[in-house]
Amino acid sequence: MHLGVNIDHVATLRQARGTPYPDPIAAARLCLEGGADGITAHLREDRRHIQDADMERLADMGLHLNMEMAATNEMVAICRRLRPAACCLVPERREELTTEGGLDVVTHQARLASVVAALGTDGVRASMFIDPVPAQIEASHAIGAPVVELHTGHYANLDGEARAEELVAIRKAARLAHDLGMVVHAGHGLTLGNLPPIVAIPEIEGLNIGHAIVADALFCGLKQAVADFVQAMRR
Ligand code: PXP
Repeated sequence: MHLGVNIDHVATLRQARGTPYPDPIAAARLCLEGGADGITAHLREDRRHIQDADMERLADMGLHLNMEMAATNEMVAICRRLRPAACCLVPERREELTTEGGLDVVTHQARLASVVAALGTDGVRASMFIDPVPAQIEASHAIGAPVVELHTGHYANLDGEARAEELVAIRKAARLAHDLGMVVHAGHGLTLGNLPPIVAIPEIEGLNIGHAIVADALFCGLKQAVADFVQAMRR
């Protein structure tokens, strides 16, 4: 199973102060050293975390880059110029804290079909970030999308019976997409705690995980960071 690490929130920390650090590209290198298969980064219309220059540098690194973006003319032009290996199309609203729902492929079939085809011409494999709903999977297949990424955010936010029901929906969606010949990915809101039932779904070939990895990294690294400052102050 492929792990794409989403490094957006390394950039969030940098943008909070407008400093040159922490550098998402240095973080990307560490993610690969840690065993990630690829890097995912979301260039938002409002540039709240990842900047154009970050995306350019990531594209130059020769790694498996998955560019997340809205299907706007501006983003399509950037993606076609940078030619990352993969592009995940997501819905985007300025006011949202994070990507809240899946893409409505059913409603926007014509537009998305032309974006998928254009990206495909440039060798960029497009994926549709969708809720685990059969109609969205069928529409993604109909427009020729080679990959779907199933939105696990609702599963992550629910608990008890409701979470169990959402897991069933994700399982069924993964099977349907796979049977239609599409590659199945999943992501959003995944943590070490809620990951095991998702990893157990055989049709899911790849996961994109960001927030929880960056959050966990604080706790793996905080002790050492303080020790380094104490050491520097003693010198
Ligand atoms: N997949 C998609 C399409 C996303 O939009 C995001 C969030 O940027 C992720 C995966 C990663 O989600 P999280 O940061 O909650 O792990």
